[in-house]
Amino acid sequence: MLLPIQTFPAEVLRRTALPVASVDSKVVRLMEDMLETMYKGKGIGLAATQVGVLRRVIVADLSEDRDGKTGLFMANPEVMWRDPDETYTYEEGCLSLPGHYAKVTRPRRIRVRYLDKANKPRELEAEDLLSQCIQHEIDHLNGGLFIDHISKLKRDIILRKIDKGLKQEEGHLL
Ligand code: NI
Repeated sequence: MLLPIQTFPAEVLRRTALPVASVDSKVVRLMEDMLETMYKGKGIGLAATQVGVLRRVIVADLSEDRDGKTGLFMANPEVMWRDPDETYTYEEGCLSLPGHYAKVTRPRRIRVRYLDKANKPRELEAEDLLSQCIQHEIDHLNGGLFIDHISKLKRDIILRKIDKGLKQEEGHLL
């Protein structure tokens, strides 16, 4: 089922999501609906906050196939380690800020702990775009947006464009 995507400046995007007690059938349903919604929006990642559900759930898929079997499902994701040395810079977009992009620099690698779709605890070491995507989605769970990571000048340019209903160039939607 497609879920309605909340777009900036929806108030829910600034709120902190709560952990799920466990990945039960209700959470699995949410994960599947979020993946379908993400595919439809041509995004590579989506956080539950973006569909107005304040639970710590994210989905992502960086594969070519994007057929549902390649989706990454995470509940209660927690970054255990961040690369202290190398960074990665990527032109980020967001389904909640459609049409707007900005270069964001984040740690190149992270190690993240989470519950998978079967409620099993897992750890994943991610780098480059996957790392960037997971960090972007976890930000959403904490009420964050990619525009928080850029200079005030660049942020003001985007906010002014949003006010005027203008959009920018194309890029990846996280
Ligand atoms: Ni986003």
